[in-house]
Amino acid sequence: MKTTKTIVALLTNALLLLSCACSRAEDPQQPPVAVAGQSKVLVVYFSRAGEQYNVGVVKKGNTAFVAEEIAKQTGADLFEIKPKKDVYPKKYDDLTDYAKTEQRKKERPEYVGPVPNLKNYDVVFVGAPVWWGDWPMIMYSFFEKNDLAGKTLAPFCTHEGSGLSGFDKKLAKACPKGKVTKGFAMTGKDAQKDPKKVAAEVSKWLENIKVPKVSKKTSEVKAVKETSAIDSIDPQKEAFDKENVFGQGNFNAAFAQYFIGDSFLKQLTPKESPLQLFNVTFEPRCRNNWHIHHASKDGGQILVCTAGEGWYQAEGEAPVELKPGVTVYIPANVKHWHGAKKDKWFSHIAIEVPGENGSTEWLEPVSDEAYNALQ
Ligand SMILES: Cc1cc2nc3c(=O)[nH]c(=O)nc-3n(C[C@H](O)[C@H](O)[C@H](O)COP(=O)(O)O)c2cc1C
Repeated sequence: MKTTKTIVALLTNALLLLSCACSRAEDPQQPPVAVAGQSKVLVVYFSRAGEQYNVGVVKKGNTAFVAEEIAKQTGADLFEIKPKKDVYPKKYDDLTDYAKTEQRKKERPEYVGPVPNLKNYDVVFVGAPVWWGDWPMIMYSFFEKNDLAGKTLAPFCTHEGSGLSGFDKKLAKACPKGKVTKGFAMTGKDAQKDPKKVAAEVSKWLENIKVPKVSKKTSEVKAVKETSAIDSIDPQKEAFDKENVFGQGNFNAAFAQYFIGDSFLKQLTPKESPLQLFNVTFEPRCRNNWHIHHASKDGGQILVCTAGEGWYQAEGEAPVELKPGVTVYIPANVKHWHGAKKDKWFSHIAIEVPGENGSTEWLEPVSDEAYNALQ
């Protein structure tokens, strides 16, 4: 009964989205996006084994078949997006319920990563099942966490009626500096059960978007493995998440160039507040570069440590250990850095002290030698 209701809801959604997908403009003038043998090509995909609509219980997800065929025909490497915590139910009805809530809350589930050497790839195929008319939220984690600027991004999906569901436009919005090609969609049932059709349609699409084919045997398709040491559930991170009551927020893409490692930002004040508070979370070993908050009068920064353990150091001074409850005042014009300990997650609230003629100057990274020497 519940399955019938879910299918009706999904297909109503599908019809609406189909009209949107069909009206996409095609670009016959599209220049080649890669030159055979010269571009490094990667396929990044998410797909679920278990119970799926129209195909029963499957050992390999529908989208995985399309991803592997693209890799086979283009010579691409393959990277599967796997959730760090496998919260997704194997039963179809439970999965649709779970995914709907995840989408409503705009969650950004963490995946096992990072993708090794992503910066070396010129063309990145990105694929996933359509979930409630959109990319699964975990794919937004990938789009938002990585620098995809300048790369050719080729979106594909499997679905059961919705077609492409605006995956191309949504991808372009999430990665405005990427070059998004025309997308590819096929039903999950065909992807699962009709390998000849998958091969023929993928081939047609690759010709259409002008990605060269290299005819590779399936056995040669190389799955690139994540380099993260964190496999599935990390007990330290779980305990930290409980302690980090202000929340981790999103990957801090805007300042990533000034950090070693991944940091995350959660804005705590409304945009209109004249004083802005952010909870900044650092993964283990993550630290910001040496920097200076300049001001001609007042200014500077206050750090209020909220969770985990980290360091603050002003130039020429001893490092200060940071733990929940510790507060640091950094006067304007003092060169300093802050970040996590080697083996600990860390969060602090950063408060920008109002001052005159304020600006931040970013300087050199904290060297591994200096950082590793901290006990
Ligand atoms: C949570 C969830 C939501 C779905 N939403 C849609 C949808 O909005 N439109 C659609 O056509 N199919 C929808 N489907 C069907 C899947 O897109 C389809 O079965 C897909 O091939 C599954 O791919 P996978 O096996 O690679 O995960 C949904 C399936 C699930 C599990």
